[in-house]
Amino acid sequence: MLLVLKSSEEELGCEAARIVANAVRANPALRLGLATGSTMLGMYKDLVRLHKQGNLDFSRVITFNLDEYLGLAPSHAQSFHHFMYQNFFSHVNLNPRNIRIPDGTIKGGYAQYCSSYEEAIRNAGGIDLQVLGIGRNGHIGFNEPTSSLGSRTRLKVLSKETIEDNRRFFALGEKIPECAITMGIGTILEAKRLLLLASGPSKAAAIANAIEGPISAAVTASALQLHPDVTFIVDREAGALLKQQEYYRRVLEMTAILTPERL
Ligand code: F6R
Repeated sequence: MLLVLKSSEEELGCEAARIVANAVRANPALRLGLATGSTMLGMYKDLVRLHKQGNLDFSRVITFNLDEYLGLAPSHAQSFHHFMYQNFFSHVNLNPRNIRIPDGTIKGGYAQYCSSYEEAIRNAGGIDLQVLGIGRNGHIGFNEPTSSLGSRTRLKVLSKETIEDNRRFFALGEKIPECAITMGIGTILEAKRLLLLASGPSKAAAIANAIEGPISAAVTASALQLHPDVTFIVDREAGALLKQQEYYRRVLEMTAILTPERL
């Protein structure tokens, strides 16, 4: 596990974009797992900048998004489809045929739809690099506390905490989605490399529990402790409750000297 501590949200976004951009340059047909949420905005902004400067070609990249709200059409301003097109897809040269986001408009046949999403990931050859955010309750994707650590893509009921966190994005009186389609923890753990971003004080407990707490379905991000290649990029506030900061700093220094290709 590598932990990169950054002093601001902006630096965090640039560092994440640098890692994604390097992965795309190393493998132009990268299978890239993507996330939405406010933490991701800086990374997408910087990836778009690198693309516009002519430094980054997405034409052969294949993307798979982690999740989508159930009941929201792609045109809904709060859908993850809309988020992805507005902040990233519309500004880079991804082939639309290579973009996959769970369909939030399906009505019934959920298990079948979710296994077809898993099959699409498998048929593409698996995910090379999966980007993740983290919820205040430690969720990754929409794998809420108590999710099975072996879970696959499925329909998931959102926790009250997540619904409350989302309320501010919806108009007064508008129905807030209570369910989502999300990749499972088991699905996420199969990606070759994981990159988790967290910023702000509201994420500090989740980050400390995920990295230094026991592996538990109560904090689904703690399952990342089982993965051989995870990089956390956190800002000072999100990393504030980590007890072993000094050790992570030394690991990073030694990694830069001994195995710089990991960075
Ligand atoms: C979204 C997703 C979620 C978010 C998490 C953090 O695709 O998978 O797990 O990453 O809820 O969201 P923000 O960044 O808005 O705090």
